[in-house]
Amino acid sequence: MGHKKSEIKSVSGGKNEADRIIIFDTTLRDGEQSPGASMSLEEKLQVAEILDKMGVDVIEAGFPIASPGDFESVRQVAKIVKSASVCGLSRAAVKDIDRAGQALRDAVNPRIHTFISTSPVHMKYKLQMHADEVLEAVTDSVTHARKYTDNVEWSAEDATRTEHDFLCRCVEAAIRAGAGTINIPDTVGYTVPEEMYALIDMLRERVSGAEKIVFSTHCHNDLGMAVANSLAGVRAGARQVECTINGLGERAGNAALEEVVMAINTRNDVLPYWSNIDPTFITRASRLVSAVTAFPVQPNKAIVGRNAFAHESGIHQDGMLKNTQTYEIMTPESVGLKESSLVMGKHSGRHAFREKLKDLGYELAEDDFQDAFRRFKDLADHKKHVYDEDIEALVDDQVATAREAIKVVALTVIAGTGGPQKATITLDVEGHHETREATGEGPVDSIFNAIREVVPHNGRLALYEVSAVTAGTDAQAEVMVRLAGDGRTVTGRSADQDTMVASARAYVSALNKLITARDNRPSGQVIRVVE
Ligand code: KIV
Ligand code: ZN
Repeated sequence: MGHKKSEIKSVSGGKNEADRIIIFDTTLRDGEQSPGASMSLEEKLQVAEILDKMGVDVIEAGFPIASPGDFESVRQVAKIVKSASVCGLSRAAVKDIDRAGQALRDAVNPRIHTFISTSPVHMKYKLQMHADEVLEAVTDSVTHARKYTDNVEWSAEDATRTEHDFLCRCVEAAIRAGAGTINIPDTVGYTVPEEMYALIDMLRERVSGAEKIVFSTHCHNDLGMAVANSLAGVRAGARQVECTINGLGERAGNAALEEVVMAINTRNDVLPYWSNIDPTFITRASRLVSAVTAFPVQPNKAIVGRNAFAHESGIHQDGMLKNTQTYEIMTPESVGLKESSLVMGKHSGRHAFREKLKDLGYELAEDDFQDAFRRFKDLADHKKHVYDEDIEALVDDQVATAREAIKVVALTVIAGTGGPQKATITLDVEGHHETREATGEGPVDSIFNAIREVVPHNGRLALYEVSAVTAGTDAQAEVMVRLAGDGRTVTGRSADQDTMVASARAYVSALNKLITARDNRPSGQVIRVVE
């Protein structure tokens, strides 16, 4: 084994290419694997589009062998992405790799990411394979993937709990077979920064061929150290970071893209690296991912939490008024956060509304724009002040539900002290209107029971959450509903001034996803109605 460190000397726009960090986003793959975070095809395309615009280098679009839906979404993402490399995940199996290769056929720069576990515990219990068999699988899988593309990434699953000698042998085998990127995942979120630094450093020192390839980190956040571990890997010489918007991902999630990027930008004195990311897209991307997955962002989450730039205490406010640098290490504008502003009233015209949408980062097709404008007018008729947040909730809601096969047409609820509470709902199911009535323990229960009457299903309610979009008693209510069934968890979200309407729509939105996933239908196509 050699003792060489990579030396890349070219310079890009005054910046040294050797210090560039490749941002690999896996929101659509590892993020979507998080229970309840499933996205429809349209939602995935929207996320891919914004990732591409913000300058992500590699978009991991899914795991094509996992289901026909996954295959199709990787294929569609590959078609629409203009700049980024689009990547598909595969296990170390010929059929997985073939599926990934087929899904990526239309990508401008396709990448196949193949992985196998290398830790003793994974090899013994999960794979039930001997070390020599795993080593052979590494060579075979990378060799096979190279038949589809020159851009092959290999990952050692559970690398941080793998014996060093064996890890070196596997990495060497992957490089010899033609992998250009070697990913070192902390699959179970177990490592600490010093250990991650030492691991990457050890691999760069000992593995022959290390100077030819890019080392990558992929850190999970089980102990809250995913970003710190990723940056430690970078300091040791890794030049790709795998991350997700909002830190979405399996269990406690992955390293958050926005935190990695802003740590490098803000502390460039001690982290002298750079990336292609335009950070002004961060807020918009965070809101979009939160909206389509119905995973709320924790208010005190770094960079994108609602309170990340809020200065409430008297002492802090006083300091901020004198000089913003007293308590602000980066500006809200640098991550695309604009002052919440009063939008317009019911007299605002199409032109002003179009400009506002542009300002908020939305690009809608003409039909969708007309629909959004109609909904805005409707809201402005009933709500005194319409804020940016209202517009975002309205458009996100429209985008999420536009192509759903089941839609709420009408709802009447009788609630109050007398009881029993009763709901009458009309749903549009593939063009047929069906009306049912049901009672329940409260108005929300009645609505959900009535929906079940129209579309019987085995989804179990796993979460029902209501929050106000803005202040005031005329605020829109944002409702999230999570349904579990058929081994999946799906989430729906909706916003409306009427909490009951938002509840019905959020439930129906989750139901659409559950049925689409169950039947493996392309989203926007459904089912059978029970007469
Ligand atoms: O966490 C992990 O190990 C993964 C691999 C498939 C890269 O997600
Ligand atoms: Zn992972």
